[in-house]
Amino acid sequence: MILVTGGAGFIGANFVLDWLAQSDEPVINLDVLSYAGNCENLASLSGDERHIFVQGDIADSALVDSLLAQYQPRTIINFAAESHVDRSIHGPEDFIQTNIVGTFRLLEAVRAYWNNLQDEAKQNFRFLHVSTDEVYGSLAKDDPAFTETHRYEPNSPYSASKAASDHLVRAYHHTYALPVLTTNCSNNYGPFHFPEKLIPLMIVNALAGKPLPVYGDGQQIRDWLYVKDHCSAIRRVLEAGKVGEVYNIGGWNEKPNIDIVHTVCGILDELRPLSNTQSPLSSYRNLITYVTDRPGHDRRYAIDASKIERELGWKPAETFDTGIRKTVQWYLENQDWVANVQSGTYREWVEKNYTGRAA
Ligand code: NAD
Ligand code: TYD
Repeated sequence: MILVTGGAGFIGANFVLDWLAQSDEPVINLDVLSYAGNCENLASLSGDERHIFVQGDIADSALVDSLLAQYQPRTIINFAAESHVDRSIHGPEDFIQTNIVGTFRLLEAVRAYWNNLQDEAKQNFRFLHVSTDEVYGSLAKDDPAFTETHRYEPNSPYSASKAASDHLVRAYHHTYALPVLTTNCSNNYGPFHFPEKLIPLMIVNALAGKPLPVYGDGQQIRDWLYVKDHCSAIRRVLEAGKVGEVYNIGGWNEKPNIDIVHTVCGILDELRPLSNTQSPLSSYRNLITYVTDRPGHDRRYAIDASKIERELGWKPAETFDTGIRKTVQWYLENQDWVANVQSGTYREWVEKNYTGRAA
């Protein structure tokens, strides 16, 4: 079986669902259920014996030791993290704790477990660390996209903590020969995305008739990848990736934020048109509001995903047009999920991050 950490979050849950849709190999899912972890994401697995959910912290060494001893996984995929840049600006400490200390403790437990494995199990074992393109820092408009050898230049507490975790993973391979793989992926979007991030926030706000807050001039560029393509890339790296190597994963799909927001509004105008009786606005686009920029806001990320294509034959299946349409559709069809994630703590976060950002 495999052990997934952070499997109740956005990408982790999509990964677990996709894994069990394609394989009967069981998954142990270790997730602390922070504000971002949501068992509803895994509701379709209820009663499925192939999914063993354990609520717990990757930094809890005793718990991780006992899970490894009991279940003897052949592979570990580490999604668990604090993942939101704006939250890292308001309160970096949780990022240091989970992304750095947590990854370190997990690596220590895994090292002890792996050391005691016998021949073939030891040889075939893999620890795959899921990371981000943000560790590479910000690009100027005409700079080439990030390759795997681009120097690390993280700019936010989030990206700095992910960079530290990447370095630890690298060191455990170099020093202890732990068979690791690292993936650095661009911005994901798709089902179960918590509405604190750009795309789901815009969908959820638009449907509620609330302002669509665009930071600064909206010309910051991100590369976007449909979450299921990220999951297929991880499966491919697990299957065929070379131990100790890093693989960049991206969608070849750079877009300025303001274009993303216009695209979301355009699809909503088509799928859920505003009638004049409902609202005097003719388009969701009229909700767009420019607000004070994020401090230290990275201007551009771009991923050169040619290594994973060349060496492992992986390419994304979705274009941005197909992926974003599926995503908006999913949110329209899953309004209960949307209502349930907008709890008191979510509303407190929105208040903290957006009040005082002058329009
Ligand atoms: P998320 O915030 O939606 O989910 C994180 C999950 O980890 C949650 O279920 C949470 O409860 C769990 N978690 C947090 N701290 C934990 C701990 N100490 N022990 C166990 N579980 C813990 O994040 P996501 O967007 O799904 O991202 C998953 C991973 O992918 C992260 O490592 C992130 O850095 C990386 N990543 C994300 C993106 C993106 O666009 N979202 C892009 C590239 C890489
Ligand atoms: P986000 O989804 O938080 O991902 P990241 O910061 O990890 O790239 O943000 C994506 C982009 O959208 C980023 O440039 C910040 C911008 N943004 C807004 O303009 N308004 C918002 O309300 C949010 C959450 C993000």
